[in-house]
Amino acid sequence: MLILGIESSCDETAAAVVRDGNEILSSIISSQIDLHRPYGGVVPELASREHLENIDPIVREALAKAGVEVSDIDGIAVTNGPGLIGSLLVGVSYAKALAYGLDIPFIGVNHIEGHFYSVIFENPPIEFPALALIVSGGHTNLFYVPEEGEYKLISRTRDDAAGEAFDKIAKMLGLGYPGGPAIERLARSGDPKKIKFPIAKISDGRPDFSFSGLKTAVSRYLRENELVPTSDGGEIARWTIDVAAGVQESIVRSLVRTMEKAAIDLSPKTLIVAGGVACNEALRTASKAVATKLGIPVYFPTKHLSTDNAAMIAAAGTAKLMAGERSGLDLTADITMRLQNFENEDLTLKKKARYRL
Ligand code: KG4
Ligand code: ZN
Repeated sequence: MLILGIESSCDETAAAVVRDGNEILSSIISSQIDLHRPYGGVVPELASREHLENIDPIVREALAKAGVEVSDIDGIAVTNGPGLIGSLLVGVSYAKALAYGLDIPFIGVNHIEGHFYSVIFENPPIEFPALALIVSGGHTNLFYVPEEGEYKLISRTRDDAAGEAFDKIAKMLGLGYPGGPAIERLARSGDPKKIKFPIAKISDGRPDFSFSGLKTAVSRYLRENELVPTSDGGEIARWTIDVAAGVQESIVRSLVRTMEKAAIDLSPKTLIVAGGVACNEALRTASKAVATKLGIPVYFPTKHLSTDNAAMIAAAGTAKLMAGERSGLDLTADITMRLQNFENEDLTLKKKARYRL
């Protein structure tokens, strides 16, 4: 089964051809990082215009690199949420038109489920139940996955996603966009114990994440110590390096601590850590330590498949198409699309949460 995957939910236009759900014949990613860098973050209107320019050439390139004709494709999988509305609509409209023209099935895929499937490639088969930490610029979720296609939300962020915290704090420190890789690079030579940043606890007792307090703590630290970041590309001050190390330590500890507690409670057979922040070596090392302690394997995507890509969308779509699922031409973009389908956890969250640092 040859599936064409299409991803355009944020600032990457991507297309991939995947055979039988686990063999990548091609995976093309056109990143818009340079376009958005001057603004320090993604500008939605610019992103959708760029997707519109890129989508057709990127799909053609993916087909050519895979050595297949468009007529060889058996189905199309496209991200239809969550994400930026204008960006999503470009991929969804393109996929629908192409599938209609070719008279082949197509399926809408939840972007977060796509990240889950990114570990299908280059890892042994996932054993269920699994516990999956999906951690990126837009999302920070911990899911219990009792069997393929079933997701129970265990933890989510109440405010910023972990990648968003990396990006916003990097901006405050005068480091470039995206912030995650910039902070990781500096943190390698910093002392994570020098400045201890807090980890938020949620007052209603839910095992959720919160990262906006960390942003405030860094801003307060800079103000109280009268530290002004250099933004002219000059030499980076020692304190910036230690702040970067402290920030990374706080984010990684928060993520891994919650994952470990849930793993002890739920006894999964596999841990999965995916999404853009899974590129982070400190997170990988800390997750491996938890996995070793608990005697279970942890799977990560390769770095190419950690950030947004279309191979993971094709893999998720293949599983759905093989199970007989199909989308209709009324498929549209859903910016707030949820993945949880096992039990609606949010209904139990009655009282308003407060964050304690
Ligand atoms: O999965 P992704 O490409 O897009 C979303 O779905 O959001 O993730 C992008 C995020 C950005 O916030 C970026 O700063 C973060 O992943 N990121 C990292 C690293 N590489 C990318 N965060 C920490 N360390 C990294 N090495
Ligand atoms: Zn993503």
